[in-house]
Amino acid sequence: HLRAYRASLLHFHADPAFAEHAYCWHEDGLLLVDGDKIHAAGDYAQLAPLLAEGTNVVDYRGKLIMPGFIDTHLHFPQTDMIASPAPGLLPWLETYTFPTERQFADPAHGREVAEFFLDELLRCGTTTAMVYCTVHKESVDAFFEASEARGLRMVAGKILMDRNCPDFLADTAEGGARDSEDLIKKWHKHGRSLYAITPRFAPTSTDTQLRLAGELAQAYPDTFIQTHVSENPDECRWVQSLFPASRSYLDVYDSVGLLRQRTMLGHCIWFDERDFARMAESGAAVAVCPTSNLFLGSGLFDFEGADAASVTLSLASDVGAGTSFSMFHTMNEAYKVARMKGSYLPAARMFYLATLGAARSMRLEGSIGNFTPGLEADFIVVDLQATPLLARRSAECNNLEELLFALALLGDDRAIGATYSGGRLVHQRAGMT
Ligand code: GUN
Ligand code: FE
Repeated sequence: HLRAYRASLLHFHADPAFAEHAYCWHEDGLLLVDGDKIHAAGDYAQLAPLLAEGTNVVDYRGKLIMPGFIDTHLHFPQTDMIASPAPGLLPWLETYTFPTERQFADPAHGREVAEFFLDELLRCGTTTAMVYCTVHKESVDAFFEASEARGLRMVAGKILMDRNCPDFLADTAEGGARDSEDLIKKWHKHGRSLYAITPRFAPTSTDTQLRLAGELAQAYPDTFIQTHVSENPDECRWVQSLFPASRSYLDVYDSVGLLRQRTMLGHCIWFDERDFARMAESGAAVAVCPTSNLFLGSGLFDFEGADAASVTLSLASDVGAGTSFSMFHTMNEAYKVARMKGSYLPAARMFYLATLGAARSMRLEGSIGNFTPGLEADFIVVDLQATPLLARRSAECNNLEELLFALALLGDDRAIGATYSGGRLVHQRAGMT
């Protein structure tokens, strides 16, 4: 049973014969969806004649349909503390983060926040995310229950944290590993849910906890791993003093087997050449978190160093240290960070990193990320007329790169007219038909 959507179509070629971020563009396009899967994407003139008589075509002409955004690092329990003032990462964790996360011992609170958080992601056009829950097992149940109720492809996990944190948030090495394994059995590949083994960061885990996390990662090789690394100079010095035998911060994770495919490392700012080389070699990917890194004053990501080593990158909001759920805002600040370091990010690359590039960084390109037939039908309808300025500016664009660049720099949640997940409408902006 096909549904059809007419609009301009944008996605990225999966075929390795094309350059990594080569646009696939159909000015007058048609997207065909069969149940929850992509059936075809192409020119309207070519595909329309193949439609059965009487097939309803949803008319989104003048708008742009593209794959839903993928945000590879954010914290759902930090929704209510976004934009909390603190002079840097460690004071911010002490003052706001730990007290806020304490509230998730209450499952009812977790459910309520998860609902708001997911609706906010969908309002911003994000259909897949890699999500930190809290140390509480219940927070993971709350999150996946809410995400499965919406039919979303989501990755999440329970934070592991057995030292250097308030007692009310501490687990133990063995208890944390046991809870994680229970949650893997309960949620990993249940519906569209996927589990991520989630040590918070090296300072809040003992060697034993990290080692057990590494063993779990080996026992369940298709799960994800997510953590923070080399975010802030004070944090890096702290790690050096806690793990004097490690060559680098990254090496703390490497030495316990936490670097592999499907490892997603947030920040990676204070890396040297060997760290970047090791990332590339291990298949681990970077979640670049520009709004967070600017907000906390953590540092500027080194795109040139990462590219020189061919490290796989993706973009992430890192809410609540990040200041927006919007991947447009994330692109905007990633662009400026790159400029400050003498690098340049074309719009094509930014949109690639937020869609197919992210899917590849998670080894999920067989499920999501572009409009290859058979992939899951997660897509967004972008409205370039959403604001007076965006409408006026986009009318002046001479080519697709200019148009997408203006959208990346000027866009926000208002530009997301509608969001579809698994072929179902899960968000529609007021006034959109
Ligand atoms: N490092 C350890 N925990 C956190 C967190 O919650 N947010 C950020 N940005 N960095 C961290
Ligand atoms: Fe984070």
